[in-house]
Amino acid sequence: MSEKPWDGRFAERTDTSVEAFTSSIQIDKRLYPYDIEGSVAHCRMLAKVGVITEDESAALVEGLWRIQRELDQGHFQFDDSLEDIHMHIEARLLQEVGKVARKLHTARSRNDQVALDTRMFLRDATGRIIEGLRALRGVLVALADRHLDVILPGYTHLQRAQPVLLAHHWMAYYEMFTRDAERFGDSLKRTNVMPLGAAALAGTTYPIDRHYTAELLHFPAVAANSMDAVADRDFILEFLAAASICMVHFSRLSEELVIWSSSEFRFIELADAFSTGSSIMPQKKNPDIPELIRGKTGRVFGDLMALLTLMKSLPLAYNRDMQEDKPPLFDAVDTLQGCLDITIKMLPTIKVKPDVMRQSASVGFLNATDLADYLVGRGVPFRNAHSIAGRCVAHALAQGKELHHLTLQELQNFSKVIEADLFDHLTLEHMINRRQSYGGTATENVRAAIAAAGKRLAEEKVAA
Ligand code: ARG
Repeated sequence: MSEKPWDGRFAERTDTSVEAFTSSIQIDKRLYPYDIEGSVAHCRMLAKVGVITEDESAALVEGLWRIQRELDQGHFQFDDSLEDIHMHIEARLLQEVGKVARKLHTARSRNDQVALDTRMFLRDATGRIIEGLRALRGVLVALADRHLDVILPGYTHLQRAQPVLLAHHWMAYYEMFTRDAERFGDSLKRTNVMPLGAAALAGTTYPIDRHYTAELLHFPAVAANSMDAVADRDFILEFLAAASICMVHFSRLSEELVIWSSSEFRFIELADAFSTGSSIMPQKKNPDIPELIRGKTGRVFGDLMALLTLMKSLPLAYNRDMQEDKPPLFDAVDTLQGCLDITIKMLPTIKVKPDVMRQSASVGFLNATDLADYLVGRGVPFRNAHSIAGRCVAHALAQGKELHHLTLQELQNFSKVIEADLFDHLTLEHMINRRQSYGGTATENVRAAIAAAGKRLAEEKVAA
């Protein structure tokens, strides 16, 4: 059992069961690079303002880098009695550089230290996720470009509605993941605020320079209120909220891939390398990756709920409850990153079946709206046109035919304005290309959307 930093006030030793219960080292050890970088900046700042000497600072910094190497190489010994990563590193520093190590924690508390470490961790993680989303958006744009001539039924209520380009469908996901990237970028602004120097909660009596610490650690802003600085976890909540919304998008995409690869749809086939088999049914090829992504979505929602619930009744400022912020944060970061990585790899390997998609788009009266629109073009008010088209559909259904298989005479029984040119209007290509309203599925529109997305991605890449 090790000496505790607070043992001056305590007559009894901590019970070992308490050490086991309160320890967070197995979780927070992954913060170590940030803890060390933060401590190094803190030392340099203390030396700059004259709270410690330059020699003391140099000895501390040197010792901290040695510990960093030890941790990097996996030689560091962890011990539950030392609670968390902050105490582990400080205790090891004492062994490394001797009693000067006792000066490191001047003008600092673990309350502001853990807030700093978590913010540094999350800004790196958010940056990687934004980068991953950029790669995924690039994959979607490439798919859209490849499938610019593939037509499939668009659905509402999961009933065939109107034909759309597969490219348009992919670009819908591009839009969703673009909003996600924007949301993460926005939450990053509020993560990137430097809390160190708030100390326990009230600030400190030492003449510290928090702006200098912020500069050393590349923070554009310094937390303005010491109590808020140690009590705030909004930045994690915002990240988890953005992550949850992003997982909704992953889950919807996954759901479509599961449905599309079923024997009922047969729109796509997943690559063998990205599917799994059944241990009992030899014929099966299962879409386990999209299914697992859909399943993992629930975990990330749970992470958000866990932290919202954790924070909702905490009085200012720091409370030990907040140690429980890290498991949901780390879980959401890892889960989202895993889903991103695998989706980026899987999507380009999907085999699309354009003939099946086209056939499905040709059956089920997907051109009924276009029949109505044709009538409107010949002066029939839309509501009347809708009703005429409906009667044509009922008639065709009774004959077991599609609208475009009815004869001109049959159609003219429902409206005198119908002429032979109607049949052009009822073809898939015509239906697609007449939907030229901004944001619609006409090939020219989708081509322009793809070009605009490609340009934006290239600009984002330069800016990153
Ligand atoms: N392990 C703690 C956490 O993650 C560090 C801060 C501890 N502060 C304290 N006053 N006990 O929140």
